[in-house]
Amino acid sequence: MFPLKRNRRLRTNETIRGLVRENHITANDFLVPLFIVEGKGIKEEIASMPNYYRYSLDQLETELHELWSLGLKSVLLFVKVPDNLKDNEGKEAINPNGLMQRSIKYIKSLYPEMLVMTDVALDPYSAYGHDGIIDKGKIVNDNTADFLAQMSLSHAEAGADFVAPSDMMDGRILLIRETLEDNGFTDVGIMSYSAKYASAFYGPFRDALDSAPVDMADIPKDKKTYQMDSANRIEALRETEMDIDEGADIVMVKPGMPYLDIVRDVKNEFDVPVAVYQVSGEYAMLKAAAEKGWLNHDEVMLESIIAFKRAGADIIASYFAKDILKIINI
Ligand code: PBG
Repeated sequence: MFPLKRNRRLRTNETIRGLVRENHITANDFLVPLFIVEGKGIKEEIASMPNYYRYSLDQLETELHELWSLGLKSVLLFVKVPDNLKDNEGKEAINPNGLMQRSIKYIKSLYPEMLVMTDVALDPYSAYGHDGIIDKGKIVNDNTADFLAQMSLSHAEAGADFVAPSDMMDGRILLIRETLEDNGFTDVGIMSYSAKYASAFYGPFRDALDSAPVDMADIPKDKKTYQMDSANRIEALRETEMDIDEGADIVMVKPGMPYLDIVRDVKNEFDVPVAVYQVSGEYAMLKAAAEKGWLNHDEVMLESIIAFKRAGADIIASYFAKDILKIINI
């Protein structure tokens, strides 16, 4: 008798495939990144991120309404800061009336139940495009971490549900947790970018926020002294363990597709929810190939998202969230 077993029986048609499917995509999986700019009446497409936009606050309402109707209830906020407000310390980042703080309040006033997470790092506010304070050509760790705790507090005061430190300074989760606790924000969570790699896939994001490291003497051209080396795997576990010990509620691996092995490692090793970030370059890559007719947009998009679930991700930050929901809701 040959063959003894026939695995293809479970693939005969879509009904049986659906019945035995191991992973599913739902609206609850997604965290939607939003780019916000100063001004009025602005909805501008990001050149390297087709069909993704920066919004001024007054234009955000329609977008939020669409997200909410699709069941997308969690957002991750990024702001584009005007050059004249950038410096080396990130002072504008703790302005109680700054764009981030106003955005949090605005979103919460329209959709109190929308989960608002905020990016915590200095790069959009840094005159040098780095995630920390620079001294003598180096990104200093401890002063930056102190500042990030103040920045997190400022976001909590404005009403953020979660802060998401994306800077990769050592020890910042502990300082942020302590500062939030000391100020009574015991319910404000921390989603830590724990295993964040120094990746070239962040290019389009830096276009979106105009936040790339500047080309100046004595300013590091890349983020390799704080973000991780893409060759490393064990180090990702060490980073993640440290953040959990310091009080992270959710940990994240970033980028996504090139680091699925790390997502699986982190999921197997720890018992907190694991997020993955399908970053701007991953989005741009797929959009560009689809525009050329070289890949089928929707099929590749769905395949890329289910791969995160298969790898063990509980939460997926993705610029495709809306596109995905429009497909799976029908
Ligand atoms: C800022 C930050 C970056 C991203 C998220 N937060 C850029 C960077 O670290 O240079 C990248 C997101 C993306 O590429 O979609 N610290």
